[in-house]
Amino acid sequence: MTTISTQSVPVIAIDGPTASGKGTVAQRVAEALGFHYLDSGALYRLVGLASFKAGVSTDSEPDLIPIAEKLNVIFQGDRVFLADEDVTDVIRQEAMGKRASEVAVHPGVRAALVARQQAFRQAPGLVADGRDMASVIFQDAITKVFLTASVEARAERRYKQLIAKGFSANMSILLQDLRDRDARDANRSTSPLKAVEGAHHLDTTSMTIEEAVNQVLAWYKAS
Ligand code: DC
Repeated sequence: MTTISTQSVPVIAIDGPTASGKGTVAQRVAEALGFHYLDSGALYRLVGLASFKAGVSTDSEPDLIPIAEKLNVIFQGDRVFLADEDVTDVIRQEAMGKRASEVAVHPGVRAALVARQQAFRQAPGLVADGRDMASVIFQDAITKVFLTASVEARAERRYKQLIAKGFSANMSILLQDLRDRDARDANRSTSPLKAVEGAHHLDTTSMTIEEAVNQVLAWYKAS
């Protein structure tokens, strides 16, 4: 029997700051190629939620590590289940994004999620979205994209998303929250958000989703 090494499965890594649109772009690229899709931020959001339910502070690394290790998560289509509960909408709330960013500073929490993320690498290919996809989790990704947009454009996109989902939102609070999260994600000592050498930079501030998707597909096809 021959085993095909997962190392030969192509990965497109898309990293960037929160609300940059990378999730939507990554999902569309995966659909276009028939590839699997990893939303790594969802795992940090799930640790944020599970620790909240357990009454564990985001400062307490020793208590967070077992929660991250034992996370009972199932991704089913576009739904996410924690134990048996559908938490798809809850984890998208701003409060969970903030908790996610706080738990993500701990090296032990990040280490506990590595194998879980790498297991998404299945044929015919994977599009992985996050902060450290190219720098840590899939260092041999065939195409590496660093996707950004101005903080104002990101706040506006997030505002529209939240309103469309029926959540309340306040533009100045959103802007401040994005700035805080950018600073925390970029300045932490373990796996900070930064572009790796050789990454393609894509500023989507004045781009449509379709233009961004086509650009990523073009880079992948040329790689
Ligand atoms: O992509 P997102 O907004 O869903 O991510 C939520 C938080 O999770 C983000 O603020 C930082 C953290 N995160 C991370 O540290 N590493 C990743 N690969 C993905 C997300």
